[in-house]
Amino acid sequence: MKKVHIKSFGCQMNVYDGQRMADILSHQGYEETATPEGADLILLNTCHIRDRAVQKVYTELGKMRDIKRAQGAEGQETKIVVAGCVAQAEGGEIQRRQPAVDLVVGPQAYHRLPELLAEAGKRRIVDTDLPVEDKFGFLPAPKPQAIRARGVSAFVTVQEGCDKFCAFCVVPYTRGAEFSRPVAQVMAEVERLAEAGVRDVTLIGQNVNAYHGEGPDGAVWGLARLMHRVAEVPGIARIRYTTSHPRDMDEDLIAAHRDLPQAMPFLHLPVQAGSDRILAAMNRKHTGDEYRRLIERIRAARPDIALSSDFIVGFPGETDADFEDTIRLVDEIGFASSYSFKYSPRPGTPAAELEAQIPRAVMDERLYRLQERIEHHRQAFNAATVGRTVDVLLERTGRHPGQLAGKSPYLQAVQIEGGTNRIGDIVPVVIERAGSNSLFGRLAEPGETGGEDMAA
Ligand code: SAH
Ligand code: SF4
Ligand code: F3S
Repeated sequence: MKKVHIKSFGCQMNVYDGQRMADILSHQGYEETATPEGADLILLNTCHIRDRAVQKVYTELGKMRDIKRAQGAEGQETKIVVAGCVAQAEGGEIQRRQPAVDLVVGPQAYHRLPELLAEAGKRRIVDTDLPVEDKFGFLPAPKPQAIRARGVSAFVTVQEGCDKFCAFCVVPYTRGAEFSRPVAQVMAEVERLAEAGVRDVTLIGQNVNAYHGEGPDGAVWGLARLMHRVAEVPGIARIRYTTSHPRDMDEDLIAAHRDLPQAMPFLHLPVQAGSDRILAAMNRKHTGDEYRRLIERIRAARPDIALSSDFIVGFPGETDADFEDTIRLVDEIGFASSYSFKYSPRPGTPAAELEAQIPRAVMDERLYRLQERIEHHRQAFNAATVGRTVDVLLERTGRHPGQLAGKSPYLQAVQIEGGTNRIGDIVPVVIERAGSNSLFGRLAEPGETGGEDMAA
């Protein structure tokens, strides 16, 4: 067997794509290896979202070139492939800056990897064509042992690309226009995962709640209808989806959180900022109050739902008063967790052209304050779980002997003492303590509720 080392940066879709590329390459006689040293093929699956993510790629490529050279001196040929969003956005630039790269392949060309690799032996190649065909139809199914090795929770891409064009964001350019996979194709993949032991699926897409796939009945299905269908698959106990846009949270999807026991009470719904002026400049097409009302409706459907968001500080023109609006929104909603970033001007996006760029020191200060509030609410949410009994999906053995590790319905990491349960079981756990990154608990005794169940 030849060896491939795949390193993915960026979002969950890159994790998923990395697995699909591993599946393709397994049919070409490659097995995965955890380190680049010794690999015949090194594949960097890259992210273009912020400048820092891009710089990381070039640093990493320098290291991979050194490994390629050292292995070459020993007589081992090593190929370097750059995939993902940096490949799509600046393929030519990559080849210019790092001549050791053999192949640059954009996210819509992964299904052509075998032919491209064969060609790459003869010349250096860039393939960043946006779709002329549905790549998903050409991807091979993962082998059951590969699925099992990846664990009981899995991602399934149901939608890719974005038509929203937020003023700061490169994704519409790197992933192309919105595309939804047909329902039958998604279902075949979910069924295969479930047969190999997967219990928890996260349906992913850059704009997952804009899903509009062709149904088996010829009609267009939305995400809620797809979730109801996924919930019928034996073995699938938990369904999540990410990332959603507030504009596409329709009534059916909100109702699914009330009606579908498998729909987990966790929702990542990025708001980005709290100021209406900034939201408009960002081209988000919703106001702060529209977002608040949306959250009210979602909480009415599923009162215990945990919410998370992404935030950008220092978008061009953001004043202190605008930033205070963000802090106010964070404190009002009380997110269970959130990601926050300093604005990074991205080439080709409208916001990068704006005059009023914010000084770095101001951004640093705002980010610090925002993260302090986010952390406060995260800890409060976790502390509120203590004393309660929650259902935990066991995902792996824990850090210490005798420990098991899993996830609560609210996507919290939970460490459990003892028990002879198997990975993949869902067990009631009494939460005893909240650490900085995980909750700690013990298996509930039969009949014990350990206090009020959060879902009650
Ligand atoms: N809908 C997408 C969002 C991807 S980008 C998804 O599938 O996840 C993830 C987050 O990165 C965004 O929500 C935004 O908060 C942040 N982001 C995007 N462009 C950025 C930029 N130019 N500078 C700083 N943060 C950015
Ligand atoms: Fe980017 Fe906005 Fe599309 Fe999300 S919705 S991927 S932030 S353009
Ligand atoms: Fe990054 Fe591309 Fe995902 S830019 S966040 S890897 S869609």
